[in-house]
Amino acid sequence: MNNDARLFYALWPDEVTRIQLKRLQEPISGRKLSSDNLHLTLAFLGNQAKSSLPTLAKLLDKLPGQRFTLEIDRYGYFSKPRIAWAGPTETPKPLLELQQSLMHELTTAQVPLKAEGNFKPHITLARDAKSLTTPFAPGISWQVGKIMLIQSLQVKGGVIYSPIMEKLLA
Ligand code: 2AM
Repeated sequence: MNNDARLFYALWPDEVTRIQLKRLQEPISGRKLSSDNLHLTLAFLGNQAKSSLPTLAKLLDKLPGQRFTLEIDRYGYFSKPRIAWAGPTETPKPLLELQQSLMHELTTAQVPLKAEGNFKPHITLARDAKSLTTPFAPGISWQVGKIMLIQSLQVKGGVIYSPIMEKLLA
């Protein structure tokens, strides 16, 4: 039995936003993510002991709980992993505060994390993709209402994201 789980925290889109994000995938080449899997990662934990799941789930209670708007208004491209993504031109303050609060709580709880670079909010749309960096209008005004702790499971033919715990924003 595997005692580890591959985990991450993410902002999870509502159904209307998910449909809008799916439309953004249309002009993109490459292996498109299933629209059910579209999300914005706040923190990637990698493999963690399953025994830490209660601590990691409870940590969500300590994060700021207010809804906020995230304007998704541009495509972007990470050339090395060949990822085409959509995201905000400017990171809104509530998103930055949420991500920083999460990193602070993870550090306080002594959760082992790989050193990460700067937070670059993005929603991966496709992998093995070609470059696409144009802005688009109108953008998507995502009313962010849900944070999830997710387990990523490798299965035949892809990845399944299995929710462990969610936090609803008010
Ligand atoms: P990506 O979409 O940019 O690949 C689940 O795999 C989520 O965790 C994805 O959003 C993925 O980001 C992110 N992720 C996977 N491996 C990662 C890593 N080594 N560092 C940071 N984020 C990672």
